[in-house]
Amino acid sequence: MTESTCDQWQEEYATKVIAADNAVKVISSGDTIYIHSNAAAPEVLINAMVRRSQDLKDVKILHLLTLSKAEYINKEFSNSFKVKALFIGPNIREAVNEGRAEYIPVFLSEIPKIFESGIVPIDVCLIQLSPPDAHGYCSYGTSVDCTIAARKNARIVIAEVNKQMPRTLGRSFVHISRVDYIVETDRPLPELISAAPTEVEIAIGANVATLVDDEATLQLGIGAIPNAILHSLKDKRNLGIHSEMFSDGIIDLIEQGIITNNAKTLLPGKVAVSFILGTKRLYDFVDNNPLIEFQTSDFINDPFVISQNFKMTAINSALQVDVTGQVAADSIGSYLYSGVGGQVDFIRGAARAKQGKAIIAMPSTAKNHSVSRITASLLPDSGVVTSRADVHYVVTEYGIAQLYGRTLKERMKSLISIAHPDFRSQLKKDCCLIPWLN
Ligand code: COA
Repeated sequence: MTESTCDQWQEEYATKVIAADNAVKVISSGDTIYIHSNAAAPEVLINAMVRRSQDLKDVKILHLLTLSKAEYINKEFSNSFKVKALFIGPNIREAVNEGRAEYIPVFLSEIPKIFESGIVPIDVCLIQLSPPDAHGYCSYGTSVDCTIAARKNARIVIAEVNKQMPRTLGRSFVHISRVDYIVETDRPLPELISAAPTEVEIAIGANVATLVDDEATLQLGIGAIPNAILHSLKDKRNLGIHSEMFSDGIIDLIEQGIITNNAKTLLPGKVAVSFILGTKRLYDFVDNNPLIEFQTSDFINDPFVISQNFKMTAINSALQVDVTGQVAADSIGSYLYSGVGGQVDFIRGAARAKQGKAIIAMPSTAKNHSVSRITASLLPDSGVVTSRADVHYVVTEYGIAQLYGRTLKERMKSLISIAHPDFRSQLKKDCCLIPWLN
């Protein structure tokens, strides 16, 4: 395909517009389909594909987190569709744990590489775009992430062009000549509403805030804690953002002049991000907003890029941490919960940055305070996302454990001191059974 001139693109666009049910007829049995991530999941195309289930066998579906009903995951469609998840969201979690869908553990920074190298080939790419501008360029909107690499390496690209998809700026554009079929829609994007922070989350935020310097550049991972931490940063000055994602929480800090991006050493003056997850307020905020620079995951999450940010401070969460500092973040024992995402990318990038800090922040307990997240050993079958050699700070509502450069015994003492008091004596007893912790 060659890019058409300014005058030609409208004509070309018109020839590509098609009904969703007709567009998905290009999908064949055995194909691998990539689905655009988060709020950009093209629900209209997904539903049309599911309506074709009777004609299709063994279609592989590949995606990160999607805010989609994902009906292809239903048991009745198991002969037609098989999901290979790059991140396990709530819509496919049950199926993954029942063995009806599979999980590919991979660093977010490297997902584009597995498409480009052909290790994971893609036949058809289903994306959602903003309407074209005067030059025929559409924006990938709320999720740039790994979708450019998927689109470039797919045989066929079908785009839902949604009037309500924000036009985000940065490396976020695709010319309509690169798209094979266009399905026009006008529908609101799905929203992810963050709950107000709990008392425990506020206490964690206050502890994390003591580690955040003025002029730091922040990454905020996925989950309840990173977003809650933003509420504790009201006294900081001149913060910046370089993060694979962010939610509504950063809008207030920008409006209050706390996030200025002025001290950033990479992309100064810009909030650098690869996708957003939030409400319509956030989608409106990023629309045509030159402050927000969308970039691909292989750039935003590249540890070498991340490390160029002075005072890079990465804040991620965990499900379980053992007393030596091994972080389980994608599974609870054998129960697969989420994904590797950008946690290791940012932990490593921040650790390398000048005056950088890599922080894991989590509540000390889970399941209504019935289990400690700090344990002598990880549950059997847990996946370690961040290794104990990578961990620097672990923070709970009870304080901060600085593990970097510390022995296993020193780590154990430090982590037990920030565990919930109700579990500390049991933890000590459990650790007594491990010879090298005595
Ligand atoms: N034992 C048993 N259950 C546990 C548990 C444990 N050790 N730890 C957590 N849980 C339960 C919680 O109680 C909660 O259950 P509920 O939904 O019934 O209340 C559930 O598991 C989720 O835990 P929570 O801590 O609330 O999850 P979260 O939404 O805050 O997300 C991570 C936390 C770790 C899952 C998330 O940060 C993640 O996916 N990280 C990996 C990837 C990453 O960090 N990427 C960076 C950005 S892409």
